Amino acid sequence: MRTQVAIIGAGPAGLLLSHILHLQGIESIVLETRSREAIEATIRAGVLEQGTVDLMNQLGVGARMKREGFRHEGTILRFDGRDRRIDFPELTGGKSVMVYAQHEVIKDLVEARLATGGDIRFEVSNVSLHDIESTSPSVHFRIPGGELQTIEADFIAGCDGTQGVSRPSIPKGVLKGYERLYPFGWLGILCKAPPSSDELIYALHDRGFALVSTRSPEVQRMYLQCEPLDKIENWSDDRIWAEFRARLATRDGWAPKEGEIFSKTVVGMRSFVTEPMQHGRLFLAGDAAHVVPPTGAKGLNLAAADVRVLSRAIIEFYKNDRQDLLQSYGERALRRIWKAQRFSWWMTSMLHRFHDADEFQHKVQIAELNYVTGSRAASTALAENYVGLPFEDLEL
Ligand code: FAD
Ligand code: PHB
Repeated sequence: MRTQVAIIGAGPAGLLLSHILHLQGIESIVLETRSREAIEATIRAGVLEQGTVDLMNQLGVGARMKREGFRHEGTILRFDGRDRRIDFPELTGGKSVMVYAQHEVIKDLVEARLATGGDIRFEVSNVSLHDIESTSPSVHFRIPGGELQTIEADFIAGCDGTQGVSRPSIPKGVLKGYERLYPFGWLGILCKAPPSSDELIYALHDRGFALVSTRSPEVQRMYLQCEPLDKIENWSDDRIWAEFRARLATRDGWAPKEGEIFSKTVVGMRSFVTEPMQHGRLFLAGDAAHVVPPTGAKGLNLAAADVRVLSRAIIEFYKNDRQDLLQSYGERALRRIWKAQRFSWWMTSMLHRFHDADEFQHKVQIAELNYVTGSRAASTALAENYVGLPFEDLEL
């Protein structure tokens, strides 16, 4: 079979790309190794930048997000047992973020693609990329049941996340990786309880980091800094709540609202960027090209930002015969990616306890939090990164 753009992976990057191209009359086929049920049930990110919210609305897939998502106009930094608030609209000229779970975004995008005749092949296997250096690359894959099929395309978009086949399909010696591993992970839980706070709380405590987020009036999302390879079995419900109570305690006796924990996962923390993001007719987007630690809530948003740049380049190729935007795709996307990497690394460094940190470093961390929350200039720097930097670097 033939299509214009073969898209590997039905995560936020692949689905957004497919939908944007469709709205411009460009065909694609999306290949996904997992089932529709599995991708719609995987619990991941929760915070959408203003630009991602705007993009969803522009694409006509924002209706449920508008109804069910929560607009957050600020966030709390909690340290030394006290709260300091960062006000987003005041510091960013009116911008805010939306708390709306990644798997809800996935559901909305899958529904929109299927309703508009989109071609998503779920549960494929043995995906392999061929002739990416030619002008007619192809993808081979097996459909459920075992039959081998081939897609011939003009372009391949590698949107298959950290464990995908796209990045490894680029010949050895072309790519350079930049990586930073952190000596901790996050234990994430979902629990049945009312919200403990109207806004997210990022807390630094001697015992480590804690984050209070939300999913709905009945379901809450919370995270604790833990060992990088920690086991869920080490974390009984009692231990989890004791740790949240300790790390989130304030001088005026704040305590989280507790409830039945029905999901526990451990996520490793890593910063990673691969350069270049393209080779021949293969273009990487999202986690296939870069990973951020979740402290800045940037992973999903960066995937969406890559897709903005890539879709524009593909559209200009078909509509106006332009090649230059495709050639400069990675270079332009990487400018934003490195800024998001810097922000995510900085938030992570400021808010976690490092095993090897001495008292001096801890005092400096607290001083930094006091500075960030006490200076309008420093608060603005945090706020403008958190709600998402402007897209000026995407201009032609
Ligand atoms: P993905 O969402 O990973 O999508 C890639 C898709 O490709 C997947 O559906 C996968 O099944 C599919 N695929 C893989 N291999 C193949 C193949 N060979 N062929 C076809 N399809 C394939 N970010 C935050 O901002 N906050 C968070 O709290 C947060 N938590 C996270 C928790 C976890 C466990 C993980 C893994 C990530 C988390 N992230 C978080 C990051 C965020 O979820 C990602 O940045 C985002 O999903 C990136 O989207 P993507 O489309 O690039 O990749
Ligand atoms: C989430 O709600 O899952 C979430 C929120 C903020 C983060 C990371 C994850 O920084």
